[in-house]
Amino acid sequence: MRRGAALATASLSVLLSLALGTSAVALREEPQAHAERAAVEAHDVPSGALGAERLAALPRPAVTTVPAAVADAPRAVVDDGRGAGGSPSGTSSPPEAQPAPAPTAAPQPPPEPAVAAPAAAPDCAALACVALTFDDGPGPDTGRLLDELAARAVHATFFVVGRQIAKEPGAVAREVAAGHVVGNHTWDHAMLPSLSDEALAAELDTTSQAIVAEGAPAPTLARPPYGSLSPSVTQAFASRGMAGVLWDVDTEDWKNRDAGVTTERALAGAHPGAIILMHDIHPSTVDAVPGLVDALRARGFTLVTVPQLLATPVAGGVYAHR
Ligand code: NI
Repeated sequence: MRRGAALATASLSVLLSLALGTSAVALREEPQAHAERAAVEAHDVPSGALGAERLAALPRPAVTTVPAAVADAPRAVVDDGRGAGGSPSGTSSPPEAQPAPAPTAAPQPPPEPAVAAPAAAPDCAALACVALTFDDGPGPDTGRLLDELAARAVHATFFVVGRQIAKEPGAVAREVAAGHVVGNHTWDHAMLPSLSDEALAAELDTTSQAIVAEGAPAPTLARPPYGSLSPSVTQAFASRGMAGVLWDVDTEDWKNRDAGVTTERALAGAHPGAIILMHDIHPSTVDAVPGLVDALRARGFTLVTVPQLLATPVAGGVYAHR
């Protein structure tokens, strides 16, 4: 409903931008000047949650979503760890992906894939899916986060800063090996719309190369620092086969540095299709994750990666939620 309206508004914004020759600007009005150090520690939104409405109301490329009809398209995706899913409190959660039932006498077994069957991808058209996303890492606490996620069989999406990769040897490789999705968050947390084409290309390409060097597939998702986009930026994403990923639940973990508050904000904003923004460079955020995961599951949510949530993100598209 309001999403439809938001999309229409966003599309109009694009058309207006094109018609008027104006360029889209940063999502946020007040990107603070950052000290070098703060650029990496700081977060993507200085203040205030960016609801879908606000996102749509600002001039920028369209926020698109994936038609439900394509949600079931076969894709090579990772399992969301359904084994640990389910609702501890036994509340009426949506049907989690379940282990295949024991064969019954009824014939008509499903055709088996040639390769070892991965667990079925969660169907986010039917389930209450949310995606946890972690930006700005890897950092000293990323390993601990990976331990916590593994303990709960949760797969998340990491938008890594290129220059951080070598500072935490093995961290991104471990993310990949564990089945998490790794996206591009630029080399040094740059405000992309202010860059020359060459500098923009370098921010994206050096980061993608560093991610691939860790054993990851070439990133198909990019999160612009501060959520700042422009037509040039989305075009740069498109030409590299990447979709832009924003968020619609901001925990403001970078600001509150409090596991309880971070958890509270994530739970308050969670809804089916949500993309939740956090940062794995803050110990308090990592502290929050185990309880947050448990609480989300208790409320019936299925935790998925961004590609699982969106099903078929389109290169050059921008997504803030399913
Ligand atoms: Ni960031």
